[in-house]
Amino acid sequence: MARHFLKLSDLTFAEHRALFLRAARLKRERRQNTLAGRTLVCLFEKPSTRTRLSFEAAIHQLGGHAITITPGDSQLGRGEPIADTARVISGYADAVMVRTFADARLEEFARHATIPVINGLTDGAHPCQLLADVFTVEERLGTVKSRTVAWIGDGSANMARSWAEAAALYDFRLRIAAPEGYRLPPEVLAAAKGHVTECATPEEAVEGAHVVTTDVWTSMGQEAETERRRHAFQGYCVDAALLKRARPEAIVLHCLPAHRGEEIAAEVIDSPQSAIWDEAENRLHVQKALLEKLILEPS
Ligand code: CP
Ligand code: NVA
Repeated sequence: MARHFLKLSDLTFAEHRALFLRAARLKRERRQNTLAGRTLVCLFEKPSTRTRLSFEAAIHQLGGHAITITPGDSQLGRGEPIADTARVISGYADAVMVRTFADARLEEFARHATIPVINGLTDGAHPCQLLADVFTVEERLGTVKSRTVAWIGDGSANMARSWAEAAALYDFRLRIAAPEGYRLPPEVLAAAKGHVTECATPEEAVEGAHVVTTDVWTSMGQEAETERRRHAFQGYCVDAALLKRARPEAIVLHCLPAHRGEEIAAEVIDSPQSAIWDEAENRLHVQKALLEKLILEPS
């Protein structure tokens, strides 16, 4: 049966550790032939730069081939059911990465696919990004276990939710500062089993943190709310003054794309504390390890 990666906990903690070891090796030895002749389909219903490029580069560097379908390219736009599309792609490819809107749409796709399905971002999760983020924290700080990560901004969207899932899985503390109306959903908070603390202010969340991270105020699909959100998130910018409250060795992460001067100051993105470019590059390495795992070790 195909093994899917729709959320972080679809792999066990031991599998995450093995995946990071393999990713570190693949970072040193970029070109391997482990997926020669394999095909990855990348299906996008939202735009992308990093996810598309890192998955395409990953499968190419492992000897395989990618076929990318961008929004509007396929018959999905004309109403072909997602279940039928999943069945058809399963006949052509060895794995499929899907970026879409509702998590239920991805889950329906996965129910009808007979090849591994990878979540390349939904409204509710971005697990591939978290693989890269945690890998980057461990590269810079040695281990993520027992560290404190401060999340500033939208607590209700995919990135914050996946950070909360990661906190429980990898056993670190996540402090979230989000404005009223944009908090972490209660069920996600409950599932994080005490690893997540909600803070009243960004200052409280960042105090003494090892990692400071944020994301756009308006995620893809929420564009109609841009003005309302810009107003609600005033005071939630990760700037140099806020970062000073973190530990001196603290690193800054952002999944990108960023709005410089909005959720994060340009000087922070470009500062020595920024690990943002490594974070973006590490998408490539962790996803290579993920593709190998899912394609070569079906359960
Ligand atoms: N971080 C991330 O997923 O970027 P893209 O939207 O460019 O793929
Ligand atoms: N929360 C953002 C992440 C982009 C990688 C979005 O969904 O648009």
